[in-house]
Amino acid sequence: MYSEKVMDHFQNPRNVGEIENASGVGTVGNAKCGDIMRIYLDIDEVGVIRDCKFKTFGCGAAVATSSMATELVKGKTVQEALKVTNKAVMEALDGLPPVKVHCSLLAEEAIHAALWDYAEKNGIRIEGLEKPKSDIHEGEEEEEEEY
Ligand code: FES
Repeated sequence: MYSEKVMDHFQNPRNVGEIENASGVGTVGNAKCGDIMRIYLDIDEVGVIRDCKFKTFGCGAAVATSSMATELVKGKTVQEALKVTNKAVMEALDGLPPVKVHCSLLAEEAIHAALWDYAEKNGIRIEGLEKPKSDIHEGEEEEEEEY
């Protein structure tokens, strides 16, 4: 039921760890399953993501999507990183079973939370970035039709 890419990223996750003095750190949880993800970004002076690491206390799909998401945002500008949606991450992984789609939202939200933290620390505003949720189920009713 999982693609080879999902299994690969679950068994050999890329970019696991922490970044000391990270430019931005974002933590997002899923209160329903209790899973938590933290993303660290190292962003240079021209706004390019030089490094990205993650820690996930979560299911296999959450591990695989965080691993792929960190690979996708590395080397991108802050603006480009905003386009790394959960759909983009799922496509890069050749899909996820429908019941696991919500797990991929953790990665997207954690990246947004880390970018938000970076913007706040630097007193800047990132066009198109909305204040992230600390739990992916916040405001769920309004967003449900999107998935
Ligand atoms: Fe919780 Fe996958 S079951 S993130």
